[in-house]
Amino acid sequence: MKKIDEYFVPWVKGIPMYISGHIELAWRQPELHRMMSNENPNEPSPKVLEAINKYAQIANRYPDQGLVVRSKIAEINGLDGPENVVLGNGSSEVYDNIFRCFLQPGEEVIQHTPCFGIYKLRGEILGGKMVSVPMVYKDRKELAFDVDSILNAITDKTKIIVIAHPNNPTGNFMDDAEFIRIAETGIPFIIDEAYVEYAGLKMSQVPLIKKYKNVIVTRTLSKAYGLAGLRFGYAMGNKDVINQISAALIPWNVGTIVMWAGMAALEDTQGLEQRVKFNNEQLDFIEESLSDIPGLNIFHSHANYILFDAGETGKKGKDMVAYAQGRGIILRPDSPKYGSEGWFRVTIGTREENRMVVDVIRDYLTQ
Ligand SMILES: Cc1ncc(COP(=O)(O)O)c(C=O)c1O
Repeated sequence: MKKIDEYFVPWVKGIPMYISGHIELAWRQPELHRMMSNENPNEPSPKVLEAINKYAQIANRYPDQGLVVRSKIAEINGLDGPENVVLGNGSSEVYDNIFRCFLQPGEEVIQHTPCFGIYKLRGEILGGKMVSVPMVYKDRKELAFDVDSILNAITDKTKIIVIAHPNNPTGNFMDDAEFIRIAETGIPFIIDEAYVEYAGLKMSQVPLIKKYKNVIVTRTLSKAYGLAGLRFGYAMGNKDVINQISAALIPWNVGTIVMWAGMAALEDTQGLEQRVKFNNEQLDFIEESLSDIPGLNIFHSHANYILFDAGETGKKGKDMVAYAQGRGIILRPDSPKYGSEGWFRVTIGTREENRMVVDVIRDYLTQ
């Protein structure tokens, strides 16, 4: 008799469960300030809470396919209708759904690093190979998109190219013309707009969908809408493409409560505006308050986090994060790169948390 181990497909075997250590820590020690996972510090609006309560009362019923909320998303984004939209249990599941439709073991996904970790997780679980093209650290000031290198990395095995816009953790946008160069390759091109609402939908690349069938744009309600715990994400694309991707959906993947709470959030334009305004003011406050620290490079962000490189202060990112934790704040370290060990990322918190983090960073880097 063969052992159970031998039945696992080789590309899944041995991969450990993904556990987000800092999120586990934050739940275990709720007294710590959560400034590490790009969550929204504001609680859901009364309208969202009302929808959660209303649909909780009929939680004995299966959800439908979400035509109402999908139509709303299409309307907000100037698309024809629900056939242009597929829903997911967070955009992380949307990535899983899309990748399963395009990627076979041994085939390649191009990502632009540093970037969000879920692309790698979802690609590797399918036996895909991640091709990481690094952004360029220009004059030790900005991390720039490098489309020439992305195009040079394409092989006959490339099945997906993914770019986040704005990118996490760098917080910057890529130029419109560069998107067109990638779209023109015809390769499935996924644009992750998880944070685009902070700068406004005028920055969105959704209009490309009308011209390029290979362009898919993903979004989430986890960030500007402030519903990370709800798990609501979506992808938008050409209707034939979305239709094919929808064939791989797990039936009833988005529950009734989530769907209608999501609908309430999308309708609550004032709630979104308030959250965006708060975030952008606080982001400016942190960037400005730390701008005079010698040797600290602050990456101007269009999202709800800020990346820092403290390499030239002589301090390490991981030590900064350990120090902050000692003072009650969880931050996010980033791995050494470009010859610097000074990387760390801060998520915008409440007003009080942002004042605290400014003091903590200044104290550590100038002591
Ligand atoms: C670039 C990017 N895309 C997607 C997500 C995940 O969103 P969701 O909560 O919808 O799975 C994140 C979360 O941090 C992110 O940074």
